[in-house]
Amino acid sequence: MKNRTDLQKMKQEDQPVAMITAYDYPSAKQAEAAGADMILVGDSLGMVVLGYDSTIPVTMEDMIHHTKAVKRGAPDTFIVTDMPFMSYHSSKAETLKNAARLMQEAGCHAVKLEGAGEVTEMIRALTDSGVPAVAHLGLTPQSVGVLGGYKVQGKSKEAAAKLLQDAIACEKAGAAVLVLECVPRQLAAVIRQELYIPVIGIGAGAETDGQVLVYHDITGYGVSRVPKFVKQYGQADADMGKALSSYVDEVKNRIFPSAEHTFTMNEELLEGLYG
Ligand code: KIV
Ligand code: NA
Repeated sequence: MKNRTDLQKMKQEDQPVAMITAYDYPSAKQAEAAGADMILVGDSLGMVVLGYDSTIPVTMEDMIHHTKAVKRGAPDTFIVTDMPFMSYHSSKAETLKNAARLMQEAGCHAVKLEGAGEVTEMIRALTDSGVPAVAHLGLTPQSVGVLGGYKVQGKSKEAAAKLLQDAIACEKAGAAVLVLECVPRQLAAVIRQELYIPVIGIGAGAETDGQVLVYHDITGYGVSRVPKFVKQYGQADADMGKALSSYVDEVKNRIFPSAEHTFTMNEELLEGLYG
């Protein structure tokens, strides 16, 4: 299993880090088998698994429940779990308590927090307490209400400078990794250059230290519309849809089950059982 030092070394040696989200036992097993360097139990689970229209309704209990399943599916992969909406803002004590639950009860190796400012202090408190913290800047979906939608961030001179400052502050506070979402590739390249820690991009171009994508987006599972930065490598919906409708069809036409899927016994033993 990769640890913080290995990830740091990958950056130094210019080896790209591949991160995949996972939310349950089978997706984690597949991500591990595919050779992902890190798995993210993202709060995107609220949208892609639980059917909410944002990540805001996701709870600590949801993250613990799903991280436990991911852990069982990927026992040998570095697992990062998202701290859900408002679980790391009210106080340091509350933040540490929630992070401890994610590590001790659920078994993740690091936690991810969105934003800078006050959150930078939480990253410091976590790191000081022995909890590896992953920072998340750029488009931070838990702040969709404040940002006014899911839009590319850091496009103006001021916004770009602010993002770079925030990234440096997160690193100084002890962040192990930075996830950078939806920023122009040129800005991502500068941030990657200026930081010692690995910068993992999503919608941040090719000049980062690694990439992360959502499992459902990669596989084409349960997603109708994907953002520009997503490349779909599979058509799970089509494959699975075909399997399910074939099954329904065969049941209705008495094709399934055939002899090969059926148990038998000596029929003489049943004599006298019919009234
Ligand atoms: O929740 C998530 O899947 C994420 C990634 C998109 C970085 O935070
Ligand atoms: Na997330």
